[in-house]
Amino acid sequence: MPFYHKLGKIPHKRHTVFRKPDGSLYYEQLFGTIGFDGMSSNLYHEHRPTQVKEVKGSYSVKPKIAAENNIKSYRFKGFQVKPNPDYLESRKVVLTNSDVDITLASPQGSTDDYFYKNSDSDELLFIHKGTGKLRTHLGNLDFKYGDYLLIPRGTIYKIDFDDEDNRLFIVESRRPIYTPKRYRNWFGQLLEHSPFCERDLRQPYELETNDEKGDFLIKVKKQGEIFDMVYATHPFDVVGYDGYNYPYAFSIHDFEPITGRIHQPPPVHQTFETDAFVVCSFCPRKYDYHPESIPAPYSHSNIDSDEVLYYVDGDFMSRNDIEAGHISLHPAGIPHGPHPGAVERSIGQVETEELAVMVDTFKPLMLTEDAMEIADETYHKSWLDENH
Ligand SMILES: [Fe+2]
Repeated sequence: MPFYHKLGKIPHKRHTVFRKPDGSLYYEQLFGTIGFDGMSSNLYHEHRPTQVKEVKGSYSVKPKIAAENNIKSYRFKGFQVKPNPDYLESRKVVLTNSDVDITLASPQGSTDDYFYKNSDSDELLFIHKGTGKLRTHLGNLDFKYGDYLLIPRGTIYKIDFDDEDNRLFIVESRRPIYTPKRYRNWFGQLLEHSPFCERDLRQPYELETNDEKGDFLIKVKKQGEIFDMVYATHPFDVVGYDGYNYPYAFSIHDFEPITGRIHQPPPVHQTFETDAFVVCSFCPRKYDYHPESIPAPYSHSNIDSDEVLYYVDGDFMSRNDIEAGHISLHPAGIPHGPHPGAVERSIGQVETEELAVMVDTFKPLMLTEDAMEIADETYHKSWLDENH
């Protein structure tokens, strides 16, 4: 997160004596990334955050690969992923490579009896359906339909849903996820041409501080395994922190689309970046206003990136037979473009209600067994003219 946040109580000077009302010390922790070079926050705990009681064991959550080397375009019917009462078990990786997991989830319940920490990846949760509260050791965030929740690696969290009807599109990134650098000045402030600004980014507002001892289970994800670790003190025991490394929320409905007289390329929709992939938000907007413009996109060859579109809501003008919750995969190496009739249909249209999230990866994506269960195996032929 490129700007400073402070929550709770902290001492005047870092790395100095900071005492509780009874005279004993609070315990400081630097919570940082990329060695000591990336974003960091300075936390103050009721107890030392290092008190491991037991490592109960581990189990693999590595996705099972069905197709390692893929050249076919695919459509996946995301809402066919079955709901599951457990948050972690509900998460089904559908596309993966060494940089990123693209995951669908329909959790019916909250993380009632455990805390969760992903030590490998930043997690970007897109809330397609559901409301609730993300609770973390760095404070809480309320969420609802359309929210992106950016959870930096190492954040200990629980997620509470208000009811059982939830649909999430999750991007797990081994590389840190940032807002695009080109939208920031050299101090890090978002510039006037950015499609969103700091005011749109919601910071944790509520800190839960539990001064409790006992047995606290944290499920820690590391290198594709979940380790069941039991800690002796409550993981949410921070009395205050400040810094730049914390979870935040951004609503896709607060993204202000950039439009033009002629068709604008996908980078104008960019919302997040890493050095391995980008995330774009396609939002309701006015179409191109040149009198001869063709609002539908032209065919294009993403020669060296795989393109994943997750359809959220509205009418997807360039595609036939696409519904909310579907994912299209257009792999590197072959061109793709509007479906038959879509270009003609688009001429004269003045606006679109489409809402979609796009992930473009620079390395090819592998398809998992969970993906094949919801795959449309005929999609790659859907560009053929009817008489073929
Ligand atoms: Fe494309």
